Amino acid sequence: MKGILLAGGSGTRMLPLTASLNKQLLPVYNKPMVYYPLSTLMLAGAREVLVITSPGDRQLFERLLGDGSKLGISIRYAAQERPGGIAEALIIGADFAADERVALALGDNVFYGAGFADCLDRAGRRQEGAAVFACEVEDPERFGIVELDGGGAPVRLVEKPAEPASNLAVTGLYFYDSQAVEIARSLEPSARGELEITDVNQAYLDRGQLRVETLPEDTRWLDTGTHESLLQASTEIMAFEKSRSSLAGSIEETAFRMGLIDRGQLKALAEELKGSDYGRLLLERAVQE
Ligand code: G1P
Repeated sequence: MKGILLAGGSGTRMLPLTASLNKQLLPVYNKPMVYYPLSTLMLAGAREVLVITSPGDRQLFERLLGDGSKLGISIRYAAQERPGGIAEALIIGADFAADERVALALGDNVFYGAGFADCLDRAGRRQEGAAVFACEVEDPERFGIVELDGGGAPVRLVEKPAEPASNLAVTGLYFYDSQAVEIARSLEPSARGELEITDVNQAYLDRGQLRVETLPEDTRWLDTGTHESLLQASTEIMAFEKSRSSLAGSIEETAFRMGLIDRGQLKALAEELKGSDYGRLLLERAVQE
């Protein structure tokens, strides 16, 4: 399975933080935001990742992530000329996906928790259709939401409903088979001028091929969409890492855990970063038995 990481957008909701910096490079505690979705894709089994950025931001991401070889994966880059919607990432990534299944992750979605790896493993193994994750939220009007019937089956998906009929948000991590590109190509832009990922998911639902899984209780999905929620995300990750003496959303640690790099390679990466607490934690991890 291939991974597409969408790190475009103009970040208007985070101004002035995003006046000169891409939102996905802002810190969530001790690492850039994009580390979290990249480690999510790696955990899901993606070994080839396409990072889609706005044209002017590509260099920043390349400087941070390189070609992926240090992490035992391959990272390529593509540009989204203007914020044309999340579903456009599937069209931009069509040649890259080359009829294989893809996991699409939004660059500002942070997941972590003990049960998350199993959850990803299940979704990643599905050969056909689409799979998405839902999570209860207090402000469903800010998200794509899913309405379920009495038996818990999905009946409808709505993007940012003014009067939400459910408080189950669809999170920014989507698993698709090869139909996704053709579905995305057939979409018309929404009222906000974007190709909506919710419409792709609705098309799968209409075909009877959408699986909606509720995130397990021990998996956290953190909102980074407002100044306050970004700060809360940092605080929460800090508390988690300090209580466990472990790292959440670390691309280097994930590469090691997934067997993509060996202990020596992890140690070398940690040595480069050992000027920071993050690097020192990584170094501890590298020498642990
Ligand atoms: C996007 C999607 C929405 C989804 C959300 C998750 O929202 O359009 O369906 O629930 O990501 O983060 P946006 O980032 O465009 O506000």
